[in-house]
Amino acid sequence: MKRVLSGIKPSSDVLHLGHYFGAIKQWLTLQEKNECFFAVVDLHALTTPQEPKQLQKNITNLVKTYLASGLNPQKVVIFKQSEIAEHTQLFWVLTTITKVSELFLMTQYKDKVQKEGQKSALAGLLNYPILMAADILLYDAQLVPVGEDQIQHLELTREIARRFNQRFGETFVLPQPLVEKVGARIMALDDPTKKMSKSDKNPFSFIALTDKPELIKTKIKKAVTDSENRIKYDPIKKPGISNLLTIMSLVTRIPLKSLEKKYQETGYALFKEDLAEAIIKFLSPFQTKYNQISSSQIEKVLSEGRKKAKTIAQKKIQLVYQKIGLR
Ligand code: AMP
Ligand code: TRP
Repeated sequence: MKRVLSGIKPSSDVLHLGHYFGAIKQWLTLQEKNECFFAVVDLHALTTPQEPKQLQKNITNLVKTYLASGLNPQKVVIFKQSEIAEHTQLFWVLTTITKVSELFLMTQYKDKVQKEGQKSALAGLLNYPILMAADILLYDAQLVPVGEDQIQHLELTREIARRFNQRFGETFVLPQPLVEKVGARIMALDDPTKKMSKSDKNPFSFIALTDKPELIKTKIKKAVTDSENRIKYDPIKKPGISNLLTIMSLVTRIPLKSLEKKYQETGYALFKEDLAEAIIKFLSPFQTKYNQISSSQIEKVLSEGRKKAKTIAQKKIQLVYQKIGLR
């Protein structure tokens, strides 16, 4: 049995297929045999501007998504990051052993600066990986199931933990990232060279977990492919169709090779029709559950999660304060 921790930012009202297959799917398997903590990392969401009322809604919807996906609150701890003040306390301590030069290397920060210029980049965005390190180290998490884009943050977390341990004695567990082989990076439907993202302005770039059947059909129909009309998995030369094949394989659990064979005589149009149907079928039980979850259920889950997370976090921060001479 291992200690597992992960989290998703409530920065949009619904999640998409990339979140499901990159992160949540692993969580579902892990919850059976491990001690799991799944956070709604609401403080991280603040690194991009959020409208307060909408943020509150997003937080509720994210808990709903966790539950409707099949996370079992009897087995796992679901909690809100901002309700455990120890995350920000540990964050501060860790900022004092992290170099600014290390933060400047983070892709997420670099991308933003490249797009919008350094002048407007916020300190919160630069410090984002340190808060993530605090989330993980506070709970002695051994495994962190995430999408590929988070590996760099995990490496920094390990480096920070190593440094602290060296200076103040064994305190933190060095966490391992856990990344799916297929699904770690689901690409955008309108541009298969970039990852499917909820911050994308074009709603046709992603399939939200709550999208209605008609919308799913339209989105898949519009998805960018190539002019070859040949169904083959080749992410370099044929990124569009390869991404669709990956999604098909994930929702049907049919291996890529078998799909290639099945559709070798078929053109894109027919394949897309089948894919839309497969996604609709896959999402249907999720959507039914999603619509049945009540706000009292959500409150109960968060309140129980808060108590369990708090107990662990409090102990750990006391230990840290003692190690560094604040106690
Ligand atoms: P975020 O929306 O940045 O909080 O992401 C939450 C989790 O979903 C992280 O583990 C990400 O790596 C994962 N994720 C987000 N987008 C994708 C994607 N397009 N493909 C695979 N995983 C993703
Ligand atoms: N940074 C992660 C993302 O953008 C979200 C996150 C915050 C996280 N804290 C975490 C993921 C702790 C895993 C563990 O997706």
